[in-house]
Amino acid sequence: MTPRALRLPALVLGLTLVIFACGNRGDEQGIADVDLSGFDAPTRLLRPGGMTTAFDDSERAFSLTARNVNHYERQVFAAGKAIFEVLWTARESSEFTGLGPDFDAPACASCHADDGRSPGPSGDGPMPLGMVVKLSTDDPSVIEAYGPGLTSSTTDGEPEARIVVSFETVSGEFDDGTPYGLRRPVYSVETSRGPEIPDDAVLRVRVAPQLPGLGLLELISVDDLENLSDPDDRDGDGISGRLGRARDAFLDIDVVGRFGWNGDQPTVEQQAATAFFNEMGLTSRYFPAPECGRGGDCVVTGGPVTSYYEPSGFGGEVVGAIDPVEGEVGDDRLYQLTIYTQVLAVPGPRDLDDPEVQRGWELFNYAGCAACHAGPYVTERGPIQGLSGQQIQPFTDLLVHDLGIGLSDQTVGGEPVPTEWRTPPLWGIGLLDTVGGQLSLLHDGRARGYEEAILWHDGEAAASAAAYRAMSASDRDAVIRFLESL
Ligand code: HEC
Ligand code: HEC
Repeated sequence: MTPRALRLPALVLGLTLVIFACGNRGDEQGIADVDLSGFDAPTRLLRPGGMTTAFDDSERAFSLTARNVNHYERQVFAAGKAIFEVLWTARESSEFTGLGPDFDAPACASCHADDGRSPGPSGDGPMPLGMVVKLSTDDPSVIEAYGPGLTSSTTDGEPEARIVVSFETVSGEFDDGTPYGLRRPVYSVETSRGPEIPDDAVLRVRVAPQLPGLGLLELISVDDLENLSDPDDRDGDGISGRLGRARDAFLDIDVVGRFGWNGDQPTVEQQAATAFFNEMGLTSRYFPAPECGRGGDCVVTGGPVTSYYEPSGFGGEVVGAIDPVEGEVGDDRLYQLTIYTQVLAVPGPRDLDDPEVQRGWELFNYAGCAACHAGPYVTERGPIQGLSGQQIQPFTDLLVHDLGIGLSDQTVGGEPVPTEWRTPPLWGIGLLDTVGGQLSLLHDGRARGYEEAILWHDGEAAASAAAYRAMSASDRDAVIRFLESL
């Protein structure tokens, strides 16, 4: 990992900080010592979301509007927030009807409470609310019966399945001899309502991520991502990283994926429509019929709602889609919800003037974390002016990486299946517990703290994790303090 370790501080720190190589190593392969005395943090660390950044470290930290959006967008945001929070029902008399029959939760906010992360399992037992179990199998009859996921609730009768988790302990040791223990989840299907789920079907268990800054991530240029990707590891640093692959619902072609733990969703809008359909059983222009995703007929026409709508003035009026789709979730609602999700502000950092935080940042770069938890970027121009041309520091390359077999998805029979994960952004990560009251890190919430999350890194991140394990206890603390400051 050393080659990258040196270059990264130079890349990441830019010109604002003084960088010099350690005398005893002295060449590019050595370890950089970064002088942070008189620390003058560049704008991108102070304002990771550019001018959208909101400085609020309360439990509302993830729920604010980007600071620089206009009056019109604020109005749409407010309408979208109501849709995000409303409890959908199966009652026909309700304005928000169509829930189910099978679903995981009745509101976006049930899983993304306060726009934050859902809790992972606290111990052995059933999956907590907010976690989703996706299912992949080659067996068409199973897909027809269950669809793309195993939902945990229903408006009628027995739920599709009950999945339970139990934890095994994995022990390890830091280089200084201090032992540690991690917990590895093992999932099993306790009951299922339909045909038996085959042993080789894959259960993909996910916690709901926090939502700030997604509209900015959507505007990182594909060129920037391509420049970071290195699928064949040509630079030989052990880190490859490739573009996530997603399916565009309208064009039915492969496009770049950026969202979801596997980077398999292309846009905030498609992700929102997918959540409506998979998690809540609600149809929309993306999924016009209940058969969609079950191998049945699913004819999708037109394009994304955000490509149709234009603000027609400051009154918040919008011009409708040329080919409007009613569905259970009509175009207006999908539009408002999408804008809401796009303009949630990135929270600003805390304690950047604390020397321990500054040392943590240096060590974060030294350990090569920034090879994947990357940035900065300047966002491209998009329909929302406030999100365009922003200098941002999300701490992600939005690429997918192999992080080793320990983090893989598992089959029903308990076999690991190689899985690649999209680097999650780290901006705002220090506020997860303030907002959600707990820390559930990694895709399945198995890690209860930052250190556990780091210790699970393997595969392409093995050298990085090894560098962390080799640190002294006080250096490890500094890295954690840095993450807490974000
Ligand atoms: C039952 C829980 C649940 C509900 C309800 C739910 N989500 Fe999610 N959400 C998740 C999970 C789990 C993921 C991660 C999915 C994955 O990685 O494939 C996710 C991912 C997302 C993402 C991608 C975030 C990122 O950083 O990649 C967005 C955006 C999102 N949800 C928005 C919504 C919206 C909008 C709604 C309401 C229409 C909603 N969600 C409803 C659980 C839920
Ligand atoms: C090879 C790329 C890579 C490197 C290097 C890397 N990470 Fe990660 N990191 C990831 C990916 C991918 C995930 C998500 C894995 C998962 O969810 O299973 C992740 C997850 C995390 C998480 C949990 C985030 C969350 O939202 O739950 C933290 C914290 C983290 N990394 C910190 C670090 C630190 C600190 C270092 C350096 C010691 C580091 N990472 C090095 C790719 C990397």
